[in-house]
Amino acid sequence: MTTLLKFIHLAAIAIWSGGLLVLPYLFWQRRGLTAGSELDRLHRITRLVFVELTSPAAFVAIASGTVLIFLQATFVEWFTAKMVFVGIMAMLHVLAGLVLHDLYLPGGRFNRGSAIALTMAYLVVIVAIIWIVLAKPHIDSNLFAPHLFEPGGLGRWLHHSFGETRIPTP
Ligand code: HEM
Repeated sequence: MTTLLKFIHLAAIAIWSGGLLVLPYLFWQRRGLTAGSELDRLHRITRLVFVELTSPAAFVAIASGTVLIFLQATFVEWFTAKMVFVGIMAMLHVLAGLVLHDLYLPGGRFNRGSAIALTMAYLVVIVAIIWIVLAKPHIDSNLFAPHLFEPGGLGRWLHHSFGETRIPTP
């Protein structure tokens, strides 16, 4: 069961990561194209990659990963670090959707600098996640957040930092 789920997780991640890495280049291809069949063809391909490949793969990667949480011992610091990077990856995925939303409007463009910056951001975050998961580095949270894994620790930290956080009853 775990092996099958890991296989699904990794296959989905391969499609999700590959899709994200190719999207900035597809966005950049928009330059210089005016209304016509070439622009329509590029629009269809870009939408296919984002809507029909990358986004469903992201959904499957997150769903399978969430099930894996219950099958593996994940209450360790490296997994928390992985989740931070996965959050950043999901936000950068949404960013690609926002770019796509406006790109094919008249006058829409995505310059070379933006394409390089977005590709680099995807590369850094994907490599960081894969490195964390495979190296499983030992991070001692007691050094900077001693109560991170203590039951009720978050509530006490919130209380300590922000005072009374309960919602007042009318
Ligand atoms: C919400 C999203 C995700 C969740 C909840 C999740 C959760 C998990 C869990 C619980 C495992 C098993 C960990 C273990 O071996 O102890 C795992 C394995 C793995 N995950 Fe994720 N994951 C997510 C997204 C990602 C992403 C975005 C990537 C890469 C870009 C990734 C890469 C991997 C890899 C390479 C493994 C295999 C590790 C191994 O077998 O040693 N995961 N994931």
